[in-house]
Amino acid sequence: MVELSDGAGRIYGEAAFEVLAKAQALERQGREILHFEIGEPDIETPDNIAQAGIRAIQKKKTHYVPSVGVLELRQALQDEVERTRGYRPDVEQIVIIPGLKPGIFFGMLGIVDPGDEVIYQDPGYPAYGSIVSFIGAKGVCIPLLEENEFRMNPADIEERITEKTKLIVVNSPQNPTGSVMTRKEMDEIAEIAEERDVWVMSDEIYSKMTYEDDHFSPTARDGCAERTVLLDGFSKYYAMTGWRLGYMVVPKPLAARLQDFLVSAVSCTATFTQWAGVEALTGDQAFISEMMVRYKEKRDRVVEGLNSIPGFSCLAPKGAYYAFPNIKGTGMTSQEVADHLLNNAGVAVLPGTSFGPYGEGYLRFSYATSLENIDAAIESIRRSFE
Ligand SMILES: Cc1ncc(COP(=O)(O)O)c(C=O)c1O
Repeated sequence: MVELSDGAGRIYGEAAFEVLAKAQALERQGREILHFEIGEPDIETPDNIAQAGIRAIQKKKTHYVPSVGVLELRQALQDEVERTRGYRPDVEQIVIIPGLKPGIFFGMLGIVDPGDEVIYQDPGYPAYGSIVSFIGAKGVCIPLLEENEFRMNPADIEERITEKTKLIVVNSPQNPTGSVMTRKEMDEIAEIAEERDVWVMSDEIYSKMTYEDDHFSPTARDGCAERTVLLDGFSKYYAMTGWRLGYMVVPKPLAARLQDFLVSAVSCTATFTQWAGVEALTGDQAFISEMMVRYKEKRDRVVEGLNSIPGFSCLAPKGAYYAFPNIKGTGMTSQEVADHLLNNAGVAVLPGTSFGPYGEGYLRFSYATSLENIDAAIESIRRSFE
């Protein structure tokens, strides 16, 4: 009988898409479901960006371009990184990718060998563990604890780092907890990486989405010249999830390898999408702060609502659009509460365990939805427990 590869047996998917499928099956039976499971912005791509994409198609920007990306976009990103992170990378360090996710995949393939150890957050974004497992490397989890506001503690990294550690992955603002690391913590992690001679990969897809403190990048330490890898993209704060556009800033030897990964896997990122990206970076940015004012209102509403439900307690997330309430007071597991909410309250959420074992006792609510939906969900959850 023909068999699949060992690696195919080790890679895994994401619960968000499974819960969405379950919720949609209920909707087909006529049930009304309030969606808090998928991490998608609830706004449309701003019109100036969409029009730039349309114009690019009309101007026949529909052919192959260099696999590392359109030069004008890479140059616009030099300015962007200088503005937002305080260092100016060379254009050769910048690689355009079709969404941030392929950057995790190709970046890890370029850095990690079977048997290496990779440190990442738990609860954390599932793609890191999936790719580490696909490669045949070992994932070493750093628990994100509520008492530390779900921030990664550099001392925990120090404790778990070994001779085999090749890479530390950080994500801030964080999915699924909405935590934001402090500048001091980021500096300490970058320092540990330097001392122990390991790589740092920083997933900054929510970099412009903070409510109180600014985001700080650990890549500022070496300007991605030696050991740090910056991953960011246009999906979340420019509301461009379906356009598939992201970027990496990396040391030059890695950039050369990424070029060949991209040539072999995708040829290049969609050309007109990249031109829309130039407009995103160089056009009006005011809508981002306006959007964050609205998200903050939603955050406050969802946190207040969740804290009013017996058995629930919820810290105010400092970034992204995820709330991560503690549900231990219900006496049920995360999976039981998530199933109960879907079936009895018509509210689709993810169990914290979808993001790792340390997510037990928590749920993830993606509150990129309307205030009306938030109010309706809170009321429905309350009633479902009566
Ligand atoms: C932490 C994190 N990284 C990466 C991604 C994926 O980004 P993209 O859609 O640009 O591939 C997400 C999306 O949810 C995310 O939460």
